[in-house]
Amino acid sequence: MLNIDIQKVSTPKAKPQPGDKLGFGHIFTDHMFLMNYAEGKGWFDPRIVPFQNLSLSPAAMVFHYGQEMFEGMKAYHSPDGRALLFRPEMNARRANVSNQRLCIPEVPEEDFIQAIRELVRVEKDWIPKDPGTSLYIRPFIIATDGFLGVAPSKTYLFVVILSPSGAYSESGMAPVGIWIEDDYVRAVRGGMGYTKTGGNYAASLIAQVKAHDAGYSQVLWLDGVERKYIEEVGAMNIFFKISGHLVTPALNGSILPGVTRDSVIKLCESWGLDVYEKRISVDELIDDYNMGRVEEIFGTGTAAVISPVGKLRYKDDIMVIGDGTTGPLSQRLYDTLTGIQWGTLPDPFGWTMEV
Ligand code: COI
Repeated sequence: MLNIDIQKVSTPKAKPQPGDKLGFGHIFTDHMFLMNYAEGKGWFDPRIVPFQNLSLSPAAMVFHYGQEMFEGMKAYHSPDGRALLFRPEMNARRANVSNQRLCIPEVPEEDFIQAIRELVRVEKDWIPKDPGTSLYIRPFIIATDGFLGVAPSKTYLFVVILSPSGAYSESGMAPVGIWIEDDYVRAVRGGMGYTKTGGNYAASLIAQVKAHDAGYSQVLWLDGVERKYIEEVGAMNIFFKISGHLVTPALNGSILPGVTRDSVIKLCESWGLDVYEKRISVDELIDDYNMGRVEEIFGTGTAAVISPVGKLRYKDDIMVIGDGTTGPLSQRLYDTLTGIQWGTLPDPFGWTMEV
């Protein structure tokens, strides 16, 4: 159990008002959580302080070798005035999977969750209430030793910041166009693909720019060895509804194990749908498309929730999915997931946690 020192701001900032356009990740609340780590001492000095710039040595290892991890979560405002988290234990567990891979010391799961709950409690009035909005939570850990040798740092900083946000994609639930990248790769087995670390996203930027230039909003990555099997989209996992079944790439070490991915699988199974986690080749997808068997495609993620895909491009092939509107399964999943998250629908799986 952490003994968190709380130092409040003297002049709180103006909060966004109902109806304001929030976008994603632009606005930050009044406070943040900090906790230090030093080898031989462990994690120490947990505190909630005014949101402010960090002071780090320009030699801090995170700047040079990218030793860092992050998580993405949300807090929701329920109609009866509660602040709810969604499956925070999954983020706490995944954070330590990333930590382990990146030689960052683990944070006990209960401390990770306590830090987030206490910060969200302090900032409860920042949770937006408009439909489709939430308080995005970004926990991260950075290596802080001022040293240019390549080795795990001996000191770290754990930070949690909060951002009142709307939809991740500017198009909201409107189907997006996806570029299947056949040149650059995001991750390989044995690499860091299954972790949430900045390097995976840095590696993705060049293909994202290429996709944007061609008029597509996100990149669908193929496996890094054969460039044949579908892995994940830049900020989401991917699902295909093919001949009445749901199919998603199996977790193979280079795919991020998404919390929304897991929730979608559990919801669809509870609705009696067959869900297959398997290796899917892009050629197999094209064959299914040509046979008229692809009914819906959607991405899943904490930030994106459910993001329907209306168009896919692979080399010179363009696949148009559906009629340009959100498919019925994508809509049902969005409505059910957000209903559970916002506390407007029953929570049969016990996924929500009051802060
Ligand atoms: C999330 O969905 O929370 C993510 O972390 C994806 C992102 C890079 C915005």
